[in-house]
Amino acid sequence: MPALTLLGIESSCDDTAAAIVTGVPGDAQVRASVVEGQNALHARFGGVVPEIAARAHAERLDSVVADAMRGAQVGWTDIDAIAVTAGPGLIGGVLSGVMCAKGIAAATGLPLIGVNHLAGHALTPRLTDGIAYPYLMLLVSGGHCQFLVVEGADTFRRLGGTIDDAPGEAFDKIARLLGLPQPGGPAVEQCAHAGDPKRFALPRPLLDRAGCDLSFSGLKTAVLRARDKLVAAQGGLYHADRADLCAGFQAAVTDVLAAKTRRALDHYLELAPEKPTLAVAGGVAANTALRTALEEVAADTGAVLVAPPLALCTDNAAMIAYAGLERMALGARDDLSLSARPRWPL
Ligand code: KG4
Ligand code: ZN
Repeated sequence: MPALTLLGIESSCDDTAAAIVTGVPGDAQVRASVVEGQNALHARFGGVVPEIAARAHAERLDSVVADAMRGAQVGWTDIDAIAVTAGPGLIGGVLSGVMCAKGIAAATGLPLIGVNHLAGHALTPRLTDGIAYPYLMLLVSGGHCQFLVVEGADTFRRLGGTIDDAPGEAFDKIARLLGLPQPGGPAVEQCAHAGDPKRFALPRPLLDRAGCDLSFSGLKTAVLRARDKLVAAQGGLYHADRADLCAGFQAAVTDVLAAKTRRALDHYLELAPEKPTLAVAGGVAANTALRTALEEVAADTGAVLVAPPLALCTDNAAMIAYAGLERMALGARDDLSLSARPRWPL
C-alpha cells in the first residue's frame, strides 16, 4: 500500500491544531504538528467559554494550517486528503474546523474525511508505537474517561466510563477548592508530594459495583467536606492540610482507575490478544502516581503499558490526521455534506 499524506485539523475544544502525517496504518510519521492553545483567553472566566473558543478557532485556523504545511514542507499537491474532527465537542469549534476543511476541499478538490475526536485519541498509540489491534485503551482527560477495546480503525468496544466527572475535571475542581492554580492536575500532583494520603478517609466510588464504570463527583464532595471541616475548626488551611488532601484525592483516583483497569483488562484478555497491550491517553496520563499504578496492573496481567508522549496524549491534530489515514485506507470518504456532530459516541 502506498504511503498517504494527510492534513489533520482539530478544533473541538480550546486548542486550534493542524498537522501533517505521512505513512500507512501502523507505520506513520508526524511531519508537523502545530497546537495553539487558548488558556489565556479563557483564564479569567474559570473555564472554556464556547463562543470565545469558536471565534478564536475561526480566526486562527488558516494560519495554523499554513504553519503546519510550512513545517512539513508540503504543498497542496503533496497531500492526499484532509481529515477533520467532526465531533464530539463544542459545536461552534467543531463547525469552525469543518468549515475550514470544506473550504480547502472545495478549492483543491482533495477528499475530506470526518474523524471522531475520541477515535483520534484511541488510535494515537498506533501512530506513536505502531501497536497491533486489539488493544485496551484507557482515555483519561479533562473531558473524557472511558475504557475502549480498539479492534480496528472503525471498531471500538466501550467497556465502561465515567458516569459523572472526567478525572481531569475532578483534579481541576480540587485545585480550585484548595486555592491551587489551573490546570489543576499538575498543581495537585505537585502539592501531593509532601502529603499523607491516609490522613483523610476518602471514598473509592463504585469499586463495589460490577463493571468498568467510574464516578468522581462523590470523591470531590468528600474533599470539599473535609476542607470545610478544617476551615471551620481552625479558620483556614495550612500547607500540610492542602498537601494531605491532595495526596488523599490522588491516591483515591489512582486506586479507582487501577482497580477498574484490572477489570477492563480481564474482559480484554478474553479476546486472547497475541501481544496484550494497555494503552493510555489524555492529559491525566501525565500523572506519575497513575502511570506507576497502571504499570503494576499491566505487569500483573502480562500486558505491556504504552503511553504516547504527552504532546500527542493531549488534544492535537496529528491524531486526527492519523485516524483519517487509517479510515482512508479502509476506503472511507466524506464529501461537502459532512456535518458537525456535537455528540458522537464511538
Ligand atoms: O487531554 P487534555 O489536555 O485536554 C482534554 O481534556 O481534552 O487534558 C487536560 C486535563 C486537565 O484537566 C488537567 O488538569 C489534567 O489533564 N492533567 C493532569 C495532569 N496533567 C494534566 N491530571 C493529573 N495529573 C497531572 N499531572
Ligand atoms: Zn481530547
